[in-house]
Amino acid sequence: MVNLDAESAALGELREGLARSPREIPCKHLYDDRGSALFEEITRLPEYFPTRTERALLEARAGEIVAEAGGAALSDIVELGSGAASKTLAILAAAGAAGGKPRYVAVDISAHALARTQEILGSGVAFEPVLADYTNGLTLPEKPAGGKRLVLFLGGTIGNYEDGEAVRFLSRVREHVEPDDLLLLGANLVTDPAAIHLAYNDARGVTAEFNRNLLRNVNALAGSSFDPDAFDHHAPYVVGQRRIEMWLVARSEMEIDLGRIGGALRLRKGEGIRTEISRRFRRDEVLRLIDAAGWTPVRWLESPDGRFGLALGKSRAALRGLL
Ligand code: SAH
Ligand code: AVI
Repeated sequence: MVNLDAESAALGELREGLARSPREIPCKHLYDDRGSALFEEITRLPEYFPTRTERALLEARAGEIVAEAGGAALSDIVELGSGAASKTLAILAAAGAAGGKPRYVAVDISAHALARTQEILGSGVAFEPVLADYTNGLTLPEKPAGGKRLVLFLGGTIGNYEDGEAVRFLSRVREHVEPDDLLLLGANLVTDPAAIHLAYNDARGVTAEFNRNLLRNVNALAGSSFDPDAFDHHAPYVVGQRRIEMWLVARSEMEIDLGRIGGALRLRKGEGIRTEISRRFRRDEVLRLIDAAGWTPVRWLESPDGRFGLALGKSRAALRGLL
């Protein structure tokens, strides 16, 4: 956490989430340094197909995306939740091929992720890392005068939010662009439930460790006493809701001192805390979602196997202060 206000806001969210039914911990707590490294490991697992699928789609269609976003006039690329940003290289290369040299602004809650981005980019790109929680207000460097801005929200991260949160968030992002600037949104699409289940229940248990590590991160933030090894990773694909739900399930009855969150949490054996949802969408749902947030859909790109989609939306005039 970068400051005391952010820290007390995070503690408040944790208090509220743990008191809710079902109990929840926001998924942003998955991403401390170790969590970011584990996520990068997940993206390389044979079972985790979304990253590979999105990368192939971006590599095949980056030229079209950059042309739609202004070609050589594209002066600023802003990526939200950039992670290691390895897929973004395809967009930066296409911008270079179109004769542009955009600045690349990466926003991430994880310092480790931003350091990896810097490593992957090397020195040829004007890079501005922004260490911030994008759900807690968003501050971005000013857009260079005259050029066009492209906002990237990739990886299917939009699926980690319910509709209302997603629309509010994408509406706020619009306050940081001019009318006609573009958003590129990556979304996981509905596919075979068994394949989705495997992607979150890998044989090596990397996703299980990624899930349990969230409790280490919460302990570090709050001084709480969660024992990650006392919980099972449970990640069913809920067909009716078309989403993976990640849970941590207590192996036995326990009482956890919540430190600065306040009080104690009593869990019975088999009781769980939900740590993430990861939704699968249909094309029309993605397009409706960006439209509801003020981005007019202009193009839809889909992987040949239909498992991943990219929506390009053009910003309508922002309605500042209404959301
Ligand atoms: N876009 C990358 C990474 C996806 S993982 C990809 O497609 O592979 C999600 C990323 O978002 C992580 O790097 C995580 O640290 C970041 N993140 C999650 N919640 C965040 C928040 N509230 N604010 C800023 N970054 C966040
Ligand atoms: C970042 N986000 C899109 C990933 C997902 O698939 O929902 C995070 C993740 N959770 C478990 N594995 C990967």
